Amino acid sequence: MKVLGFAASSSTKSINKMLVTYAVSLLTDAEVEILDLNDYELPLFSEDKEEELGQPSLAKDFLRKIGESDTLVISFAEHNGSFSAAFKNLFDWCSRINPKLFQGKSMVLLSTSPGSRGGANVLIAAKALSSRFAGEVKASVSIPGFYENFDMESKKLNNSELDEQLYRAVISLL
Ligand SMILES: Cc1cc2nc3c(=O)[nH]c(=O)nc-3n(C[C@H](O)[C@H](O)[C@H](O)COP(=O)(O)O)c2cc1C
Repeated sequence: MKVLGFAASSSTKSINKMLVTYAVSLLTDAEVEILDLNDYELPLFSEDKEEELGQPSLAKDFLRKIGESDTLVISFAEHNGSFSAAFKNLFDWCSRINPKLFQGKSMVLLSTSPGSRGGANVLIAAKALSSRFAGEVKASVSIPGFYENFDMESKKLNNSELDEQLYRAVISLL
C-alpha cells in the first residue's frame, strides 16, 4: 500500500508535519512518502494568473502524487479558524486542473495546534472539502495541546489516549 502524507502547512517547523510523519509511521508495512508544501509553492491564484500561467507543472506534479498513491494522510494547520493560505492556494490551482482532486482516495484527516481545540475548526472544513473533492474520509482526529502531548525528542505522542485514537484512525486505511 502506497501512503502519501503531508501537512497542510508551509512552516519549516510545522507541528502538523511532525504529527503526520508520526501517524504514517504507525502503518508499518506501508510504502510511505511525505510531501512538503514548500516544494509546491505557486503564485497567489487568480483567474488572471491562470490565464497567464495556464496549468502550472507543480500543480500537475502534486495531483500526480495523489493519483499514484493508494491512500492519503493529511494534517491541517489552522490559521484563523481555517486552512493555511499555502494549502488553500495549492488547492485552488489543483482544483482547476482536476475538480476530483482527491481522486477517490481513502483519507485520514488530522489537525493539531498548541491550543486546546487542536485545530478542530479546520478539521471540520477539511472533512467537507475532502468529500466534495472526491476523497473518501475514513477517519479524522484532532490533537489538542500539541506541545504537551507530543514528545519532541522521540517524535511520538506521549498521551496514550490520543495515541490510541490516532492508531485506530490510521489502521482504518488498511
Ligand atoms: C496567522 C495564524 C493564525 C492562527 N490561527 C489559529 C487558529 O485559528 N486556531 C489555532 O488553534 N491555532 C492558530 N494558530 C496557531 C497555529 O495552530 C500554530 O502556529 C501551529 O504551529 C500551526 O501549525 P503548523 O506548525 O503545522 O504550521 C495560528 C497561527 C497563525 C500564524
